[in-house]
Amino acid sequence: MPEVNNWQLGRNMAYRFDAAYPERQFAFVFNINRCLACQTCTMACKSTWTFSEGQEHMWWNNVETKPYGGYPQGWDVRILDLLEQANPGGQTWDTSNAGTDGEFYGRYDGMTIFEAAKAQGGQQEAIGYLPADEEWTAPNIYEDTARGSKGVPGRYGAGEALPEHNTWFFYLQRLCNHCSYPACVAACPRNAVYKRPEDGIVLIDQSRCRGYRKCVEQCPYKKPMYRATTRVSEKCVGCYPRVEGSDPLTEGLPMETRCMSVCPGKIRLQGLVEIDPKTGDWKHDPQNPLYYLVKQARVALPLYPQFGTQPNGYYIPPRWVPREYLEQMFGPGVNGAIDAYTRPPRELLAVLQLFRATQTIIFRYEIREGPKVRDAVIGGQPWEMFDDTVIGYDSQGNEVANVSVLEPFIERPRKYLNSL
Ligand code: SF4
Ligand code: SF4
Ligand code: SF4
Ligand code: F3S
Repeated sequence: MPEVNNWQLGRNMAYRFDAAYPERQFAFVFNINRCLACQTCTMACKSTWTFSEGQEHMWWNNVETKPYGGYPQGWDVRILDLLEQANPGGQTWDTSNAGTDGEFYGRYDGMTIFEAAKAQGGQQEAIGYLPADEEWTAPNIYEDTARGSKGVPGRYGAGEALPEHNTWFFYLQRLCNHCSYPACVAACPRNAVYKRPEDGIVLIDQSRCRGYRKCVEQCPYKKPMYRATTRVSEKCVGCYPRVEGSDPLTEGLPMETRCMSVCPGKIRLQGLVEIDPKTGDWKHDPQNPLYYLVKQARVALPLYPQFGTQPNGYYIPPRWVPREYLEQMFGPGVNGAIDAYTRPPRELLAVLQLFRATQTIIFRYEIREGPKVRDAVIGGQPWEMFDDTVIGYDSQGNEVANVSVLEPFIERPRKYLNSL
C-alpha cells in the first residue's frame, strides 16, 4: 500500500492511492465560539441542493450540539470506538517535537482509520460502519442538551465562569471536509468518487456510482448519503459553480459557498489555499487569511485529525469546554488555539474581522494600522487593542473587503423622532 505524507499527523501513513495533490485546495475556518445554531447555513444548502424527492433526510451541511447530538446519531463516538477496538489505548500524540519541521501539531502515534483496517486484515480500505436509517432521521437530536453539573445542589444560580464550564455544550458545524486523503475516494470499488485537481473539491460521479455505499460506510465524518429514489449516493459538492466563479453575482470571480456566505453569526470564512505539489502541505502564503489562521496564528484546528483523511475544515475551538474533550476532537493544538483566541495578537484580531465581510473569496489581505483603543488584562497578562483596518483582495487583486476592528458608530440626525 502506498505511503503518503499527512502533515496534520506529523508522519507518513498508508493510503490506497499514491499521493496526488490539487493546485489549490478548498478549505474553511469556522469559529465555534460565535455560532448561534440558527441553521441558516443548513437551510441554504438544503434549498439549493437537496430539496427533491428522496433527499428529505439529506443534510449536506448540518449543525449539531455536542456532546450528545450528531447527524447521523453518534457518528464520531462510533468511529472513535472502532479505532479503540483496533488499537486499545494507542490513540496518543507525541508533542515533544511539536512545531518543528514536519511535526506541526506533534506526531500521532495511534492508528488512522486506514491503518486500523489494514491491521484488522479485512477487505475494507478504512474502518467504518453503515448507519441505520433511523440514525439519519433527526438532525437536531439532543439540541442544546448540556453535559455537566446543571441542577446539582449548590450550583443552581451560581452561573459559570471561564476558562472551563462545569455545565457545557457547543455547536459543531459540519459539511464534507473535502479531505486531502478522502476515505470516500479510497472506499469506492467503482472509482466513482474523485478529487478535482483544480480546487480539491471531492465529488461523486453520479453516472459511475452504483450505490455500493462503501463511501457512506467508510467516510469517518459520514458525509456521503444514499438516495433511495436514484439508488446512488450524493454528497456536498462544495458549491463548485460558485467556487469556479460561474455565479453572476461576482462577475466570474471565485465566490464562497451557499452555507458559508449566509452565516449571520459571521463564524465562517472559506477560501482556496495553494498546495505544495511535492508534500501536499500548504505553500507558505502568509497573506492568505486561511493560511494565517491555521499555520501562523494556529488558532484553527482540523476536526478529528487522527482519522487520517487530512480534512480541510478547521475550527476555532470553544473556550468553555473541558480541554480533554476538545483535544480528542481537534488534537493537541487546543490549548494554544484557545490562548490565541482569548488574547488575540494584533494581527489575529484584524484578520478575524474578515469573516463574512464579503461573498467573494479573499485570496490576500493587508492591514492598515490604527490607534490603540484599549488596555486590558486578560488571564493575568496585559493586552492592547488597536483599531486596525483589514483589507481583503479577490483573486485579481481588487479590494473586496475593508473592515476596522471597531465598528463605526453612526448617530442618527436629530431631525428624526427616534434619534439618540
Ligand atoms: Fe452557526 Fe452560522 Fe450556521 Fe447559523 S448560519 S448555525 S451561526 S454556522
Ligand atoms: Fe470524503 Fe468524507 Fe472526507 Fe468528504 S469528509 S472528502 S465525504 S472522506
Ligand atoms: Fe451545501 Fe455548498 Fe455548503 Fe456543500 S458547500 S454543504 S453543497 S452549501
Ligand atoms: Fe461508490 Fe459510494 Fe457509489 S462506494 S458506487 S460512490 S455509493
